[in-house]
Amino acid sequence: MATNLRFAIDAEGIATVTIDVPGRSMNPISPALEAELAEVLDEISGAPAVRGLLITSAKPSFIPGYDLAEIETQFERQQTLAEGYAANRHLTLLYRRLETCGKPVAAAINGLAMGGGLELCLACHYRVLAEDPRAVLSLPEVKVGLLPGAGGTQRLPRLIGIEKSLPLLLEGKSIKPREALELGIVHELVPTGQVVAAARRWLLGSPTPQQPWDQKGFRVPGGANIAAPAIGALFAGATALVAKATQRNYPAPLAILSCVFEGAQLPMDAALRIESKYFTRLMIDPVARNLVRTTFLNKGKADKLSRRPPEVPKSQVRTLGILGAGMMGSGIAYVSAAAGIDCVLLDSQPELAKKGKSYAANQLRKDLDKGRTTQARVDEVLARIRPTADYGALRDCDLVVEAVFENRAVKADVTRKAQAVIPPTALFASNTSTLPITGLAEASVRAEQFIGLHFFSPVERMPLVEVIVGKRTSTATLAGALDYIGQLAKTPIVVNDSRGFYTSRVFGTFCYEGQRMLEEGIDPALIENAARAAGMPVGPLAVSDEVALELQYKVIVQTREDLGGQFAEPISWKVLRHFVEDLKRLGRKSGGGFYDYPPDGRKRLWPGLRTEYPPAAEQPPVAEIRTRLLYIQALETVRCFEEGVLTSAAEADLGSVLGWGFPAYTGGTLSFIDTVGVAAFVAECQRLAQHHGERFKPPRGLLERARSGARLHAAVSET
Ligand code: NAI
Repeated sequence: MATNLRFAIDAEGIATVTIDVPGRSMNPISPALEAELAEVLDEISGAPAVRGLLITSAKPSFIPGYDLAEIETQFERQQTLAEGYAANRHLTLLYRRLETCGKPVAAAINGLAMGGGLELCLACHYRVLAEDPRAVLSLPEVKVGLLPGAGGTQRLPRLIGIEKSLPLLLEGKSIKPREALELGIVHELVPTGQVVAAARRWLLGSPTPQQPWDQKGFRVPGGANIAAPAIGALFAGATALVAKATQRNYPAPLAILSCVFEGAQLPMDAALRIESKYFTRLMIDPVARNLVRTTFLNKGKADKLSRRPPEVPKSQVRTLGILGAGMMGSGIAYVSAAAGIDCVLLDSQPELAKKGKSYAANQLRKDLDKGRTTQARVDEVLARIRPTADYGALRDCDLVVEAVFENRAVKADVTRKAQAVIPPTALFASNTSTLPITGLAEASVRAEQFIGLHFFSPVERMPLVEVIVGKRTSTATLAGALDYIGQLAKTPIVVNDSRGFYTSRVFGTFCYEGQRMLEEGIDPALIENAARAAGMPVGPLAVSDEVALELQYKVIVQTREDLGGQFAEPISWKVLRHFVEDLKRLGRKSGGGFYDYPPDGRKRLWPGLRTEYPPAAEQPPVAEIRTRLLYIQALETVRCFEEGVLTSAAEADLGSVLGWGFPAYTGGTLSFIDTVGVAAFVAECQRLAQHHGERFKPPRGLLERARSGARLHAAVSET
């Protein structure tokens, strides 16, 4: 009995399938829905009275794609290529049956259709789309390391030509209804609410139940002959671009190109077998599993505030106080005001506070110039930011976020002044990037209402907020802070207090390892290129310049002061001290660090590096540099995990990918270890420790896991 769809045949012989997956806001495709669609095909194929089939949805959207939670369980199940291939053929064969069933099939696309949902539409003979800005079409599989594996790589190029289909397939680009019509992906646009009637009208016209590509003499628009110079050049250019953009760390885009290249020459059935073969390879490749797990499923859970203590009633920040209108404070004010929160932006001088507000004005003006916002919206957001130097203005705040200088005494001073004014129920957060929260909370009269909210720069672009729970932070405070992050639509991870918390601490190891390599005589260009080849967005030297060498230096000095005898110098301390104390090269903002920043050109490595740290005659292989840079981060993450700073592998991964750009193909710092295999990772660490020092020694817990065969992420079946 069908539960995911309704099926009816009317008096005029039109069979209608209305997809309506129970208990879900959208209609994800699942094996159950597939089976029900197959039953419908069985029923109509042998029914002479049925003139045609109409497929639509009862939800506001059509179909968002295959259920990724189902795909995750498939990752666990599929072992061999042959088993995977068999499992992945179901949907392909179902859609092929649909387009060859002998009855005309029309899709009444009433809203968004993505992935397997759009592939279903492409297998229909006629497509009517709602003229509604929300009714976007896309094949976003590439974003999770997969390819459209139910005919998308074959039908789309046959419909609109190879050249026009490549951006949709390779970038997962979304297109709006008007563009879909112009490209020829849909036949008709009609007002929402009329899609079913329009599709029905077409079916009643007794159309031919055959796809263009199944008709004799069909040619792919624009051609598909790889011997033709234009087509050959198109593939050669696209392959080179993809290889450069992905550094060959992401197999999906190249697999898509291969599918189109090989498949477009063949009849549809053979072409679909090619696609299934490449899809299966991606399904058993760890990259897709890592991307699905971290960037989709675990991000989705974090966005739904899965770490929020459920017993605490939901709260909302209406008025936010921000102390310090510098780079971070002004960014926090901007995103909060944009989320509808009234902001009091305080600095030591009124002019500094006003300057902080101008950050929001500048960002909004850029959006306005690009047509991404309206003047009314600009005015509305700016009206919500009140710049001031008067603490009295904080009296109605529900939450205060402190973002003054990274200095304990300054922070303590502003905390006291703000707490003298704000309501006793208000929460207080520090945006410190390194100072332990429990220590900062000592300046607070209500330490249980004190928490760390570590935003990343630039605030409006970075999706992550690291929430730091101090020793005395209450669950109600954690819940309130998470509710605020929910208002901003950002992704939180929750960590326990420690110096540098999780993200700053691990990110630091990446910078220090790169700086250390310089001291060892490794060519700086090689260091930077190897980091990018590993998938890091920027090399360790460039990113150190961005953060400011002076800041890294100051953090180390402060840590030494705080820890006294327990302090261990970071491995690149000598390099940092030399740059800051002797060379006075403090970083990008101060005119230069490891790089020079000519005002009229692109940044380039500072030529003086070669005299300060002459490159050794023999250079290590790129693979060794890459391994060091990734392993050091993964190892430090394990230490955070074992020390209880991190409490979940999912959050470790998310924090690394969203916080500082640890390569997404790895799934994040801990998925990286699982992908390598814990035992193999440990063995490699032991080798690195022998060559490069104790910092690579695997911690005890990891050695135990290697012995017992336990992964860092529990298998899906164990969760
Ligand atoms: P910033 O130097 O740009 O801004 C600090 C602001 O605080 C300045 O406008 C200053 O006038 C104001 N201020 C200083 N003392 C004050 C006082 N007594 N009363 C009122 N206002 C005062 O610094 P930035 O980069 O915005 O950093 C602020 C905090 O955010 C620091 O704790 C930093 O560690 C943290 N952070 C910085 C990140 C970054 O990428 N820059 C990232 C995440 C956190």
